[in-house]
Amino acid sequence: MGKLDVLQKCFDFTRANELRNLNWYPYFNRVETAQGPEVIVDGAKKIVVCSNNYLGLANHPKVVEASMAAAKKYGTSGTGSRLLNGTTDLHYKVEKKFADFVGKEDAILFTTGHHSNLGALQSLVGKGEMFICDKLDHASIIDGCRLSFGEMVRFRHNDMDDLERQLKRYEDKAKLIVVDGIFSMEGDIAKLPEISKLAKKYECRIFVDEAHSLGVLGENGRGTGEYFNMTEDIDVLMATASKSLASVGGFIAGKKEVIDYIKSVARSLIFTASLPPSSVGAIDAALDIIKEEPQRRIRLLETAQKMLSEFKRLGFKTTKSQSPIIPLIVGSDETAFKMWRMLFDAGVFASPVITPAVPEGQAIIRTSYIASHTDEQLNFILEKFEKIGKELGII
Ligand SMILES: Cc1ncc(COP(=O)(O)O)c(C=O)c1O
Repeated sequence: MGKLDVLQKCFDFTRANELRNLNWYPYFNRVETAQGPEVIVDGAKKIVVCSNNYLGLANHPKVVEASMAAAKKYGTSGTGSRLLNGTTDLHYKVEKKFADFVGKEDAILFTTGHHSNLGALQSLVGKGEMFICDKLDHASIIDGCRLSFGEMVRFRHNDMDDLERQLKRYEDKAKLIVVDGIFSMEGDIAKLPEISKLAKKYECRIFVDEAHSLGVLGENGRGTGEYFNMTEDIDVLMATASKSLASVGGFIAGKKEVIDYIKSVARSLIFTASLPPSSVGAIDAALDIIKEEPQRRIRLLETAQKMLSEFKRLGFKTTKSQSPIIPLIVGSDETAFKMWRMLFDAGVFASPVITPAVPEGQAIIRTSYIASHTDEQLNFILEKFEKIGKELGII
């Protein structure tokens, strides 16, 4: 085939192989054990600092048991869409439990967090209406906005003056402000009090993605709304089950009429199979444990504080993280790949984040923490980062 071959770009794509040849390819590693603070990858032990298993529930015996019990009772698959045959009484039970937990009237469970952003955002903003998104919103939010017939503009990250500029600019349009609760790469928190003030002033609605904040922020782990004591100010709340809830799936919660509308029009809900019972069972148990074991959240936040201050003390450049996500800015993409490999070989499993996800020259090693990391594991992580940071001239 000649120039018109759509597959030509695949044959011309060399980046992954270039990294493989340098032994710097950091993706699709083969984990051979359950997800926890320590895993085995290709036969070698690694301490994990790249997981979103914040509360350490992904291998909690009660969560595993609940998942197996659900598979035994309901089988392995929903075998169809939520709309048709794929909804079990367990889906309803978990939706009610989640809505009560986050203080909303109702909730709907999608098959992934990504699907829930796609479906809700596509449904809620129509032709002639606007999304006003933070520049660092998650990719699934951007994908959801693109699926809608509405228009999207972005404001500078957590910059309330820029948000107001955009709101003023589109004063005559119906608008939805969309932000992450905790930003997935920066680890900082959306400024909900200021956002809410502006939303009232410009008469628009607020959508918060609580993917990283559920189970982590607030007195009871209910997320950003609880953290600021502003649950009512969030009109539509999204949360994924793939992080603190130790499963997979995504929730949208809000007023009954809003959820009912989304259930009738969200394409990513209607045209895909329901979340399998085993995953729903895991969420059910994880929600109970979050309520019963607050010490997990407390330990997680103490760990995050310790690691942030230790990294700063060692001389690493980081962000204004207020959460268990602590990115370390290391410089070029090349440095990030090299550092990833050195850490991996030293027994630390981290994630490099490179351009275009971050600006040129600001590549990061993203670290995140688990409530069940031991002090010994945390000290091991710091020791390796210090040694390798010095070898690379980063600190
Ligand atoms: C902020 C945010 N929103 C949504 C998602 C999508 O959730 P899931 O991975 O459960 O599909 C993610 C996942 O990485 C995320 O970080």
